[in-house]
Amino acid sequence: KTVYLNGDYIALADAKISVLDRGFLFGDGIYEVIPAYKGRLFHLDAHLQRLQDSLTAIRLANPHTFDEWRAIFTPLLDASKDQYIYLQITRGVAPKRDHAFPEHIGPTVFAMCSDIAPFPGKVIGIKAVTIDDKRWQLCNAKAITLLANILHRQDALDQGAAEAILHRGEVVTEGAASNVFIVLNGVLITPPKGPDILPGITRDVILMLAQNNGLACKEDTITLAQLNAAEEIWVTSSTREIVPVIELNQTLVGTGQPGPVWQRMDALFQAYKA
Ligand code: PDD
Repeated sequence: KTVYLNGDYIALADAKISVLDRGFLFGDGIYEVIPAYKGRLFHLDAHLQRLQDSLTAIRLANPHTFDEWRAIFTPLLDASKDQYIYLQITRGVAPKRDHAFPEHIGPTVFAMCSDIAPFPGKVIGIKAVTIDDKRWQLCNAKAITLLANILHRQDALDQGAAEAILHRGEVVTEGAASNVFIVLNGVLITPPKGPDILPGITRDVILMLAQNNGLACKEDTITLAQLNAAEEIWVTSSTREIVPVIELNQTLVGTGQPGPVWQRMDALFQAYKA
């Protein structure tokens, strides 16, 4: 397997970085996950704009133009498969461990391509549990510093669920690695963008498809009470697309089957990405 590291295409086994890399020492970096269906990068411009926003949030210069990024990713892709690019940029390798931004060093840039693994929950639905969101106030930046997300996801797995639906007080934010949608009284609702959620690209595509196809939808606060009362709950991400939640905290959601609005939206999404 060939990966990209700081300008070179090399074997994964040969891709090495210093233990002084600030990504390793501090989690000082950001990342992107960009799906590529049969070799076509999906909504690349939106992903690269979010990359720029993440870099701006951590005060790191973008080392490449949009065209350069596309040129970097293309040799990693296999046109016969559904894959995703994982891109990580850290503040680089400093001469010593010091919290302050180092001067006169360049970033570490790493990209690899992986196959999108089939996820059975996408078709049959998953179980989810609600968990108190213990993350920080910079959730809009796609930081590599994912310890809280990992602990939340593992908490969910340990409870026999596949995803954690996070909340701050009474307000639902997002999943441990996904955005959240509900259908309540026939209306599709997802929380508005802000510092408490990652602005998901899948989320934006769903809102666009809902608008273009006359499905009632809005960006609005979701309370735990509304989550519990929802006819349908979905979690969305680039690698799993739109996943119906059929059980929340061991209680059936709706009929306990993927719902009709999910069926409709998933069909629209599959047609759109093809
Ligand atoms: N995660 N919220 C969080 C916290 C996420 O980690 C993700 C995706 C999303 C969905 O964003 P998008 O639709 O752009 O993939 C929302 C990626 C897939 C990951 O960390 O692997």
